[in-house]
Amino acid sequence: MDERVGLDELPDKEAGLSAPEREGARKVLWALAAGGREMAGLLALGPLKGLTGAAGAVNVQGEEVQAFDEIAQEVFTRTIRETGAVRCLVSEERESPEILNGSSGLFHVAMDPLDGSSNLAVSGPVGSIFCVFRPSAGEPSDPSAAVLRSVLSPVFSAYVLYSVSTLLVVTFGREVRQFALDPARGEFLPLPGPLRFPGGGGDIVSLNAGNASRWREEDQRYLRSLSGAPYSARYVGALVMDFHRNLKKGGIYLYPGDMPKGGSGGHPEGKLRLLYEAIPMALIARAAGGEAVDGHRPILDVPPVHIHQRVPLVVGSRPLVERYLRIVAAPS
Ligand code: AHG
Ligand code: MN
Ligand code: MN
Repeated sequence: MDERVGLDELPDKEAGLSAPEREGARKVLWALAAGGREMAGLLALGPLKGLTGAAGAVNVQGEEVQAFDEIAQEVFTRTIRETGAVRCLVSEERESPEILNGSSGLFHVAMDPLDGSSNLAVSGPVGSIFCVFRPSAGEPSDPSAAVLRSVLSPVFSAYVLYSVSTLLVVTFGREVRQFALDPARGEFLPLPGPLRFPGGGGDIVSLNAGNASRWREEDQRYLRSLSGAPYSARYVGALVMDFHRNLKKGGIYLYPGDMPKGGSGGHPEGKLRLLYEAIPMALIARAAGGEAVDGHRPILDVPPVHIHQRVPLVVGSRPLVERYLRIVAAPS
C-alpha cells in the first residue's frame, strides 16, 4: 500500500476519539512537530555552538545531564504548553509532573525529551519520545497519581528521530504513520504507509553485550542461543534509532536488567523508563505488528506504580520476541 496521510488528518481517522479530543490531539501533534523541527535545527548547530557536552548537573535518574537534555526539555515543554490541551507533563528530566493547563487540559503527556544523549558527543543519532494519555474520571488530585492512573488509557504515542533525516513516527494504536521533515519548508510531510515490521520478522538483534555477564541467567541463555543463528548485531545506543531500524528492517531490541558489579552501577530493574520509553515504543510496536515485553509479560500489562519506573525492555518483530520468550521460559 502506498497511501500517505497528513499529520493533520491522523486524529480524524480515529473512531475512538471525541471531537474535542481530536482537536486536542491535532494540537499536540503540531506541538511535537514544531518542537521536533526546532530541535533538528538546534542539534545540527550543536558542535559549532559547543553544545554537545554535559550541562554540569545530574538528573532525577542519577544520570549526567547533557546541555541538549535541558534544551529539549525547554523546547517541548513550551510547544506542548502552548496547545492548552495538556494537564500534566511528566519528563525524564523533571522529578515531579509539571502542571501545564490544569483541569482544562484534555490529556496527560510523558516524554523523554532527548533519547540517546550520549550520542551527541559524536554527532550520532538521537531522538525524542512521547506518550499521550487520557485522564480517568474522578482522578486523584496528586499529579503523579493522576498521571499513573491515565497510563492505562493511552491516546497516542510518537517519536522523533534526528539522524541523516528527521522523522516523526506516530501511532494512535491502530497503525503506524511516519513523516519526514522538509527543512526548507519547515514541515513534516507524510511518507507512504502504514509502517509495519517486515514479514518473517527479520534477523537484527540490538543489545549491549558488554552488560551480558550481569544479566539474569535466562537473558544470558538467549544471548547464547544466537550463536550459530542467522542474525546481525546492530546497536547504536539510542533506543529511538535502534527501534526504528528494527521496525524498518526487522529485528529485536533488548535492554534486560543488569546486576551491579563490585557494588556499583547496574540497573537490576532495567534501565529504560516505563512511561516515556517502554510504553510508547510498545504501542508503536504493537500497531506495527510487533510486541514488547519486560522479559515475561507484555509491557502494556506492567502496572505503573511510579512516574519514573524502570523496566527491562524487549521489543521488536513478533516472531523474534516470541522466540525470545520461548528461550527464557525454557528450564535451564
Ligand atoms: P537517555 O539518553 O534518554 O538516558 O536514554 C538512553 C537509553 C537508550 O536510548 C539506549 O538504548 C540505552 O540507554 C543505551 O544504554 P547503554 O549505553 O547502557 O547501552
Ligand atoms: Mn531515553
Ligand atoms: Mn533522555
